[in-house]
Amino acid sequence: MLDDGSTAARKDRQLQAVLDSAGDDGRLEGGFDALRLPHRALPEISLSEVSTRTVFLGRELGAPLLISCTTGGTPRTYEIIARLARAAQVRRLAFGLGSQRVMLEFPEAARFFQVRALAPDVPILSNLGAVQLNYGVTVDDCRRLVELSESDALVLHLNPLQEALQEGGNTNFSGLLGKIEALCRQLPVPVIAKEIGYGISGEVARQLVDAGVWGIDVAGAGGTSWSQIESKLASSPRGRMVGRAFAAWGIPTSRAVVSVRRALPQVPLIASGGLRDGVDVAKAIALGADMAGIAGPLVKAAAASEEALMEYVDALVQQLRVAMFCTGAADVSSLRQVEVIWEGQASTY
Ligand SMILES: Cc1cc2nc3c(=O)[nH]c(=O)nc-3n(C[C@H](O)[C@H](O)[C@H](O)COP(=O)(O)O)c2cc1C
Repeated sequence: MLDDGSTAARKDRQLQAVLDSAGDDGRLEGGFDALRLPHRALPEISLSEVSTRTVFLGRELGAPLLISCTTGGTPRTYEIIARLARAAQVRRLAFGLGSQRVMLEFPEAARFFQVRALAPDVPILSNLGAVQLNYGVTVDDCRRLVELSESDALVLHLNPLQEALQEGGNTNFSGLLGKIEALCRQLPVPVIAKEIGYGISGEVARQLVDAGVWGIDVAGAGGTSWSQIESKLASSPRGRMVGRAFAAWGIPTSRAVVSVRRALPQVPLIASGGLRDGVDVAKAIALGADMAGIAGPLVKAAAASEEALMEYVDALVQQLRVAMFCTGAADVSSLRQVEVIWEGQASTY
């Protein structure tokens, strides 16, 4: 029986807090609402020929979309990730598992992360907090997580603010880069580094890539806000006060994408954090991302029903397709060439 302070129990509480937070995640100033794609009244392509297809981690996808890392590891969260994984397979999207740390504490939790049979053809990403490398987690542990979930890559999440706000959080981030470097050297699958909602700058992305990280998911500010979730879960008034002060913290996703793309023109780059529809996805790709990730809204839809999830996913892809059509982009690489207009910036019409 898991006690109430365990990693698994905390994951169930965090998930519930996200489900209860319907619609109150922030759209930061300077985020996607401040961007426009140039409308093209004469696109010179047919909507039917617009292709959203792409390749990620060597696998063909129907759209440049990642169901971002959220949950797993308990019977309740397995129901949700099973729905997400099935949707990923049917629509050919990449799928990220939530933190698999619980598997290191309770090996029997492995079965609640095993979705390969449900999603045999799409990239599945394993997930672990990078800081765990400072708390006894070894390269062999990471290899085991990847093998048991039959993943194509390992996502290491960087979450200093979340750990700092969490009661008993793991806050020793010193010397982590060297451990990430050793892990990248020895792990048989690519490593992707991501934040969890506060963004990765170009400078940090370069340090990570120099250490051997294959790809970056900026997971910027403007979407699911962990400072607000952790402050709701805090048991003391002071804990709640400390968390609330960080409501507007972090690098907005759009800025983070531009910063990383400038620093690293070739790195596989995922934009996530606050993307809510296919127009946001199109903007993220036009800014320079290869893939767009969405977490909170997909988890909420999956928790509601399989039908609600498929409706959301299909709307996302259709919105992306229409946005591509109206900018004259027949495929994802053409969308990458479309120039984004920042609010207040003189347009080139
Ligand atoms: C319920 C939930 C659980 C999450 N758990 C993890 C996790 O275990 N590991 C991780 O890297 N990110 C986790 N995230 C963060 C997301 O992957 C994503 O970076 C963040 O929520 C921003 O995207 P969004 O605004 O689309 O939700 C979680 C997000 C949600 C909503």
